[in-house]
Amino acid sequence: MALSALNQPVLQSDEALKTAAVAAIRRQWVQDQITAGRERSITVDESAVFGEEAIEEFFAYEAGRLIQSPKSLLGYKLGEPQRVAIVRIVANVLRHVRQAASTQLGVEVTEATIGRPVTFRSSMGDAGSEQAIGLLREAATQAGFDAVEFLAEPAAAAINYHAQSAAAHEVVVVDVGGGTTDIALGVIGGVANEPQIEATWGMGKGGTDVDLGLSLTAVMPKFGKDNCRLLAPVYVNAATVSDLNRQLDFRKTRLDGVPEPFMSRLRTLQRNGVAIRLNQDVERLKIALSTETKAAVTLDYIEPDLRATADRSHLEQGYEAFQRSFSDLLRQVSQETASRNPVVFLTGGMSRAPYIAEAVREHFPDSQLVHGDASLGVVGGLALHAAMQRSVVDRPSS
Ligand SMILES: Nc1ncnc2c1ncn2[C@@H]1O[C@H](COP(=O)(O)OP(=O)(O)OP(=O)(O)O)[C@@H](O)[C@H]1O
Ligand SMILES: [Mg+2]
Repeated sequence: MALSALNQPVLQSDEALKTAAVAAIRRQWVQDQITAGRERSITVDESAVFGEEAIEEFFAYEAGRLIQSPKSLLGYKLGEPQRVAIVRIVANVLRHVRQAASTQLGVEVTEATIGRPVTFRSSMGDAGSEQAIGLLREAATQAGFDAVEFLAEPAAAAINYHAQSAAAHEVVVVDVGGGTTDIALGVIGGVANEPQIEATWGMGKGGTDVDLGLSLTAVMPKFGKDNCRLLAPVYVNAATVSDLNRQLDFRKTRLDGVPEPFMSRLRTLQRNGVAIRLNQDVERLKIALSTETKAAVTLDYIEPDLRATADRSHLEQGYEAFQRSFSDLLRQVSQETASRNPVVFLTGGMSRAPYIAEAVREHFPDSQLVHGDASLGVVGGLALHAAMQRSVVDRPSS
């Protein structure tokens, strides 16, 4: 009975037919979305955009997820999905570089010298640096590199300076970047092929930490810092864009009881990518304050006509925490190199800030201070080192 009933054409009511038709259309729609999604995820790897262009596109379309400075994330505790996503992102960046280099050089590039900070930014101490190197290796393999070598970034900057120095002399290289500060001591210049690096020091702090300090003193008050029931750590989470877990915590923060206009501003700041956009404006304020006494940015993506202004006193307060760590590091290095009377070679983006050079001068009062190229010091050295490796490999055996 049951079987024959199943084989009978089923007579349905109009209502049932309509429900079935809607369900079929819906299923088709979902299927199309999945297929389109698959296609999109295929093309993401092939037609992704990089650098500033990527950030601009993200702000223009407000779609997807924006992850800035993936290198800064590599030393942090990562859940498996985060780990997989970050390795894939880094692999995309490295593949982009590999393909661009292959096109420029007209050969398939499959080996690389990759710069690494002495100490990565990390939430796990030394284990963070180990994890970071492991993830970079994995990403490089995914990107099609057969062999990679890591070189400490200040050692790379030393190679660049070495190429320009006729006589051998003792040098302390200080590289203050966005995420890390790296220092190397070496004998640089003269007839040797490469400088003799004798020691390295580093800390997982850099310009980003000055941004954080400046954000807390000059910008977060616009979001109610010190003026509502939310405690300071909420604002630290909001301003720490290099830590995905802090960003997630911030985005989950409950805002009940926060008065206007702070409530609406914070709601907007909790939206996808807005904290990164704000952080870029904070960085602009910091850079402007390297040469100006006052600076302002427009925050109309938070609220029409909202502006943040900052002056030197905001900068001094914001710089304080980084300054303490930087001074401790410089003191240690100056004590350990005191007998050598080294030249100090300064590089990295933050070396453009006058207060960074001042701090160095304070700890090395008798040293000659040489300003290297703030942007190309490290990469120039990496390129020279890589070229030297190739010429060793390529040299025909006699
Ligand atoms: N004129 C300036 N004044 C102050 N800071 C500046 C200036 N120009 C660049 N910076 C800062 O320098 C940092 C970037 O430096 P750099 O390009 O050396 O970093 P990076 O090599 O990308 O980072 P890292 O070495 O940490 O991996 C950023 O924090 C940026 O805001
Ligand atoms: Mg650097």
